[in-house]
Amino acid sequence: MIFEGIESFLGNTPMMRISRLFRDLNVFAKLEYLNPTFSIKDRPAYYMIQEAVRKKKIHPGNTVIAATSGNTGLGLCLACKINQLNLICTVFDSVSIEKIALLKSYGAHVVVCDSDVPSDEEGGYVWVAKSLSQEIKNSVLIDQFVDINNPLAHYQTTGPELYEQLRGKIDYFFSTIGTGGTISGIGRYLKEKNPSIKVIGVEPEGGIYRDTFLQKTPLYSDHLIHSISDNFISQNMDFSVVDDIISVKDIDSFRLCYELLDREQICAGTSSGCVLAGIKKFFERTEVINPEPIITTVLPDCGLKYIDTLFNPDYLEQHDIRLDGKSDDELRQQIAKTIAQFPKKVEIA
Ligand SMILES: Cc1ncc(COP(=O)(O)O)c(C=O)c1O
Repeated sequence: MIFEGIESFLGNTPMMRISRLFRDLNVFAKLEYLNPTFSIKDRPAYYMIQEAVRKKKIHPGNTVIAATSGNTGLGLCLACKINQLNLICTVFDSVSIEKIALLKSYGAHVVVCDSDVPSDEEGGYVWVAKSLSQEIKNSVLIDQFVDINNPLAHYQTTGPELYEQLRGKIDYFFSTIGTGGTISGIGRYLKEKNPSIKVIGVEPEGGIYRDTFLQKTPLYSDHLIHSISDNFISQNMDFSVVDDIISVKDIDSFRLCYELLDREQICAGTSSGCVLAGIKKFFERTEVINPEPIITTVLPDCGLKYIDTLFNPDYLEQHDIRLDGKSDDELRQQIAKTIAQFPKKVEIA
């Protein structure tokens, strides 16, 4: 079969049983990093732009401005190129260098903002995007935290795909929360299909969604999981489709990324580790009535976007993330001994 245009590969991602990592649980994950720019955010980005074009809010040659942690920006690059639009992305300074380099390579202008400033306050990346859109002529602000086409993309595509791939046999859906588009869109679709499906949010400790859900005063503190659980509540977050929100430690999210790579050979980003750590924690603590619940989730993006963080030993050490199991094993010693005898200098990485 021959396809035309990269947008043909949006969505319809495969569903995989994560059976080598979760031996005692039925966990099925949709591999969203297989979208064209390697994340789930291609879906809402494409929806938001197509809708703005259809409603004649933007025209070829206009400029789209968006605050993004990188992935939505990459999805917007694709959608903007297809519609001949310019793109400015505001990001905060802790976004991985891979994401910034990719955004620029796809043709976006990137404005980097101070991550110490709350996103919506003067100088924060959301504030900067709004301000630029007021100054730059023929520009449109695409606000993924507000635009209903963000959750709609998941309600109309990811949710139905997921439901059909599992033939409706779903007991739990787990998701991290950034803008809330994924959990709200998929959650709403699943609840409409079957209200007994439990929708569980997962966030890193320090996030404010759990406390807000529990109607406690939230107190944000920094965490290491990019793109999710920012320091404000997104308008696109629909708490009414959520049954519970749990929080996990950064180190457990990182550990699960490495376990996923080791056991399943899936190279996913830190929010994937976070949601898998959440599933693990939830079922360590929850007594399940159904002996074999069907648990599903999405793995939002690709680990290659985190070479300078997740896969950087210096970064891990700097943040006190100590992962066990990387000891000098017998094979490594054998290699070292062998290459030491070679006439030219050869090193183990
Ligand atoms: C890697 C990654 N994981 C999870 C999310 C959260 O998705 P949502 O914004 O739909 O809540 C995002 C959002 O940008 C993301 O980039």
